[in-house]
Amino acid sequence: MRNAFKPLVAALCASGALGMMSSARAADDALVARGAYLAKAGDCIACHSAPRGKPLAGGLPMMTPVGAIYTTNITPDPETGIGRYTEEEFARALREGVAKDGHNLYPAMPYPSYAKINDEDMHALYAYFMQGVTPVKQANREPDMKWPLNMRWPLKVWNAVFLDKGIYQNKTGKDVAWNRGAYLIQGLGHCGSCHTPRGIAFQEKGLDESSGAYLTGGLLDNWFASNLTGEHNTGLGRWSEQDIATFLKTGANAHASAFGSMTSVITTARRN
Ligand code: HEC
Ligand code: HEC
Repeated sequence: MRNAFKPLVAALCASGALGMMSSARAADDALVARGAYLAKAGDCIACHSAPRGKPLAGGLPMMTPVGAIYTTNITPDPETGIGRYTEEEFARALREGVAKDGHNLYPAMPYPSYAKINDEDMHALYAYFMQGVTPVKQANREPDMKWPLNMRWPLKVWNAVFLDKGIYQNKTGKDVAWNRGAYLIQGLGHCGSCHTPRGIAFQEKGLDESSGAYLTGGLLDNWFASNLTGEHNTGLGRWSEQDIATFLKTGANAHASAFGSMTSVITTARRN
């Protein structure tokens, strides 16, 4: 009798274990897919890929007031990319602009905005970068800056003055849609890094709606990134929700068409 049950018990155990394994894998896949979606919302690929280069392997030049710097390889290659980053180190790079070895990143990497990304989304982004991105071996390029401008320690001072630490907190009195939108726009979307005017030290003059300058328009790469507030004449006051959605998905609507760096934001939004 006892023996007759054995295969059944073994089969049940095995199917139970398999079931658990495949549901764990499904959860993993879902996490990686969510991370991929968030990486698109954050436009990581637009900056971290060079024209005709491999996706996310870096090398795109970015002008700063003190010279050109190059985006880095953020594929999971252990030698030249971020394959050896722990989740904590990854989160610190995104939220505080500090690389694994402790050097400070230039705020051309929009960490003042990414500071608002919550833990859950950070976890999904990390899962995606480690498991969903193909590793590419490609060494990072040194910035085109001469001493003393290439020193990174002043960035610590910059951070102490301008970096607003702390993830996005829902604003009371605003509904779920408003808070979701504000979280995406101020955080991952980093819309203000182009649409908010910059001050003397290249800092954005305001990182959320509490500042009158937030999203009122900024000059970058010689393009003027428009006023996105609800102001009626120069802002988006006359745009409907459909107008904004059409513009972000297709790059054009009855009011405007996209050019300059906004086109990379749109081509990524369209892929979503
Ligand atoms: C507006 C351009 C821009 C966008 C968008 C951007 N980055 Fe960056 N990122 C940079 C630049 C520039 C650097 C290098 C800065 C430096 O060397 O000081 C960098 C550096 C990094 C580093 C440090 C890498 C290293 O080699 O140590 C990580 C990690 C990183 N970015 C991840 C991301 C992720 C994830 C996203 C999307 C959520 C993203 N970045 C979006 C410009 C950008
Ligand atoms: C890399 C810089 C950059 C980022 C990041 C960026 N934009 Fe733009 N955006 C621009 C520039 C430059 C323009 C003006 C040129 C144009 O109309 O294409 C623009 C134009 C626009 C317009 C058209 C406004 C008008 O009056 O013509 C809208 C709407 C817009 N952006 C929304 C957004 C939103 C929402 C985000 C965040 C998800 C965002 N942008 C992020 C650079 C950027």
